[in-house]
Amino acid sequence: GRVVVLYGGDSAEREVSLVSGAAILAALKRSGVDARGYDLAAGGLTGLEALAPDRVFIALHGRGGEDGTLQGALELLKIPYTGSGVLASALGMDKQRCKQLWQALALPTPASIMLGPDSDWSAVTEQLGLPLVVKPVHEGSTLGISIVADRESLESAYREAARFDAAVMAERFIKGDEYTVSLLGDEVLPAIRVEVPSGFYDYEAKYHSNTTLYHLPCGLAAEQEAELGALCRHAFTAVGGRGWGRVDVMRDATGQFWLLEVNTVPGMTDHSLVPQSAAHAGLDFDALVLRILDTSLE
Ligand code: DAL
Ligand code: MG
Repeated sequence: GRVVVLYGGDSAEREVSLVSGAAILAALKRSGVDARGYDLAAGGLTGLEALAPDRVFIALHGRGGEDGTLQGALELLKIPYTGSGVLASALGMDKQRCKQLWQALALPTPASIMLGPDSDWSAVTEQLGLPLVVKPVHEGSTLGISIVADRESLESAYREAARFDAAVMAERFIKGDEYTVSLLGDEVLPAIRVEVPSGFYDYEAKYHSNTTLYHLPCGLAAEQEAELGALCRHAFTAVGGRGWGRVDVMRDATGQFWLLEVNTVPGMTDHSLVPQSAAHAGLDFDALVLRILDTSLE
């Protein structure tokens, strides 16, 4: 049957999604799948229905695509789709509630506080220490995120994040190494350690920079990598994740891992992490895309 790759949309990660979607569509075509692409921003659900898809490959990042709303619509339309369902998608897009769930299960994640225009900035810095991280609660690709070094910068960091989202949080900063773990079906793919010369794996470092280093193998001892993989699997299962996803983690100087977030539609650009990890595990991009497509029938 026909597969429609959904991409674009109108979230702040639209540009990333266009790149992910084009790569996925090209891979499906190379594999002989009857596939076409559809920009959700161009015609909405009515246009999608008119294409009569047998299955949908979701390549949308951010709100309106990765956050459960689209997944709910596809459930109602009875069209199978790749990846996580409504609840896991919604939780994955809400960094604060995801954290609360992990905390309830005693999974390690940095402490956080919700911010508002009337927050007591001194109390926030006292509670979380400095530096700290300010982020929009429902955003991806590091958009709107700042690392705040002093109390005077906190309010402007809040205002920057608030441009992206009405909900903004401050999070304790974990000094250490950044890891990411991709999950594909029952498999935990090899962890990657991301190293950025600037020290901040932001939008530029994610999609444009050629100086970002992806350590694969990640350099951890086998036992520690297994611990990291198990933690990420647990974190993904806890939100009800399905099919595929990616969990981002920090490791502090004592070797303690800290869960940052789960991505239910991770990037699939040529700079992205899941394709690199899959390739290391012996799965090339086209095979990876077919495996993800299969998750729509699980
Ligand atoms: N939100 C971006 C696409 C990622 O997690 O890869
Ligand atoms: Mg993310």
